[in-house]
Amino acid sequence: MAAIRVIRGDITKQSVDAIINAANESLLGGGGVDGAIHRAAGPELLAECRALHGCKTGDAKLTKGYRLPAKYVIHTVGPVWRGGAHGESDLLASCYHRSLAIAQEKALVSIAFPNISTGIYGYPKDKAAEIAISSVRQALAQPTSLQDVVFICFDAENYDRYKKQIY
Ligand code: AR6
Repeated sequence: MAAIRVIRGDITKQSVDAIINAANESLLGGGGVDGAIHRAAGPELLAECRALHGCKTGDAKLTKGYRLPAKYVIHTVGPVWRGGAHGESDLLASCYHRSLAIAQEKALVSIAFPNISTGIYGYPKDKAAEIAISSVRQALAQPTSLQDVVFICFDAENYDRYKKQIY
């Protein structure tokens, strides 16, 4: 039976098959969790990302993890919050679905998600948490390679919210 867990911490330290990166459409790095992942993985990650020629909002692409403890990085591009009437919820759900689909194509067992779009992209944290948790629960209700899906919450607010909704 697959487990969903919540940890407060830094996603770059997680020893899982893949961590998910909250990237931008260029896939060439940025601030927030994206910057932290590129710093920890080293310059080979940027080199591999350059060859991917970007990623559309709501989609996801896989690279190796290089110097990270995680074997792979799944880069996904969350929507910028523009008030909620611009397809944001579908795009955010798509980030989770596409990332989970890639993990399953690779037969991965353990993956870790950050709270996509809830930093620089300004998505309301309560709405984003509902989408994140329901997308993962939906995927784990089907036959899957995944046994361990971890939400890595960097801030106390997200951590408390996820804990309440999951446990
Ligand atoms: N580990 C886990 N979570 C983290 C870490 C970390 N090391 N650092 C930050 N967070 P954000 P977005 C949390 O802004 O909103 C970048 O410039 C953070 O507290 O990283 O999707 C990209 O290149 C927040 O809860 O991503 C894009 O341009 C969550 O990660 C843009 O930011 C997401 O915050 C994407 O914005």
